[in-house]
Amino acid sequence: MSKLLTKLNYYLNDLPVKLQNHLHRTAKLGRELSLLHEVNDEKVFVSCIAHDIAKKLDIHEMLEESKQNKLSISYEEEKSPILMHGPLASFWLEKKFNCKDQEILDSVFFHTTGRPYMSQIEKVVFLSDKVEPYKVQRNPDLLEILDLSMSDLDSAIFKYLDMKIQHLLNQGQIIHPLAIEARNFYMK
Ligand SMILES: [Fe+2]
Ligand SMILES: [Fe+2]
Repeated sequence: MSKLLTKLNYYLNDLPVKLQNHLHRTAKLGRELSLLHEVNDEKVFVSCIAHDIAKKLDIHEMLEESKQNKLSISYEEEKSPILMHGPLASFWLEKKFNCKDQEILDSVFFHTTGRPYMSQIEKVVFLSDKVEPYKVQRNPDLLEILDLSMSDLDSAIFKYLDMKIQHLLNQGQIIHPLAIEARNFYMK
């Protein structure tokens, strides 16, 4: 695991500084939430550091790279190729970084939409990305979700997706079906 992290840290140096900072803030929150919820903090840390590495590509390159590597692309993803940055990062992690850990690969793959039946690691990675300090500072509505993520991961995921889906609807944007499935799954 430390070898993988060393490789990733090296790779991170070539990413835009804003993106590097987001990855580090996500990993820091990921570690804190892991300790609170007794989740494997090493796996969470690696997943958080890696989750957005494919964002160095623009959306056209994302789609092209996904097609070249024969990743499955739904029509929602074709219409909104930014949705491919998780699956693509997971693919790179496996192929370029030789990561064989399925929990890490899944956490990265599904970090944008979530999905039903997420592992504890996936839940912590999902939320750490969504409510890292800079995002909360920019959108104070997220503070409630950050608070909730300290005590109840499932409720925090539901609340986040509920808010996000409403926002996307108001903006007239594409909604990934997995986000809707996850929202319904985590509703109590
Ligand atoms: Fe992302
Ligand atoms: Fe992110």
